[in-house]
Amino acid sequence: MMRIALDQREVQKWGKMCAKHPSSAVVAMLLRRAGSARVLETTYGEGRFYLVHRPPFLAGVDPARRQWLVRPDLFFEMPVQIFLEKLARGEVAVPRIDTVVCDPPWGRGEYRKRPHFAAARAVGSPQQIVECSAKVAELLGAKHFILHFDRVPAIEGMDAEAVVEFKPFTRYLNAGRTVTFFVLYSL
Ligand SMILES: C[S@@+](CC[C@H](N)C(=O)[O-])C[C@H]1O[C@@H](n2cnc3c(N)ncnc32)[C@H](O)[C@@H]1O
Repeated sequence: MMRIALDQREVQKWGKMCAKHPSSAVVAMLLRRAGSARVLETTYGEGRFYLVHRPPFLAGVDPARRQWLVRPDLFFEMPVQIFLEKLARGEVAVPRIDTVVCDPPWGRGEYRKRPHFAAARAVGSPQQIVECSAKVAELLGAKHFILHFDRVPAIEGMDAEAVVEFKPFTRYLNAGRTVTFFVLYSL
C-alpha cells in the first residue's frame, strides 16, 4: 500500500492549475494511478475535483444542482441513498463506470456559533453517505473507489491501495485536526 503525506503548499508547486486547485490535483493523481477514464462522483458538488483533470466520462449524483465548475456528462439530482435504491431496483441507467468518488460533507455542526457550511449541506450522516457510495461502487462493478474523508475507514470488500494524507493550509478553522485523507480503494 502506498502512503504519502502532502502539504497543500507542496502540491501548489506542481503547476498553475495545481496551485489554484490543490485538492483537484490530488484527485487527478489518484485517478491517473487507477487508470480511471469513466468516473461517477456520488457527492458531485461543483465538480471542483475535476478542474485539473477531467475524465473522458464524468457522472454526478448530488441532492443539489450547484453552479458547476466542470459540467458532468450525466447528473442525478438526488441523495446517494435514493440513487442506491434506484440503482438496486434497476430504475436508473448508468453506463460503465470504472471509479466511484465520494467527498461527503463533514465537520463540526457549527463554527463560532454559525452553522458550518459543510455539515449543513449533508442529507444523512457522512458515514451513511460513505457506506451508500461504497455500495454504489460495488453495484456498478467499479474497479476503484476514491474517498476524501477525515479518516481512513475499513470498507468491506475493498483494499486501501493508496492513502494521501493531505494537510491543507488555512488561516481559518484551524482549531483542532485539519488533516484530511484521500484514499484509493480497489474492489
Ligand atoms: C464537500 S461537497 C463535495 C464537493 C465536490 N467534491 C466538488 O469537487 O465540488 C459535498 C457535497 O455532498 C452533497 N451531499 C450532501 N448530502 C448528500 C447525500 N446524501 N448524497 C449525495 N450528496 C450529498 C452536498 O450537496 C455537497 O455538494
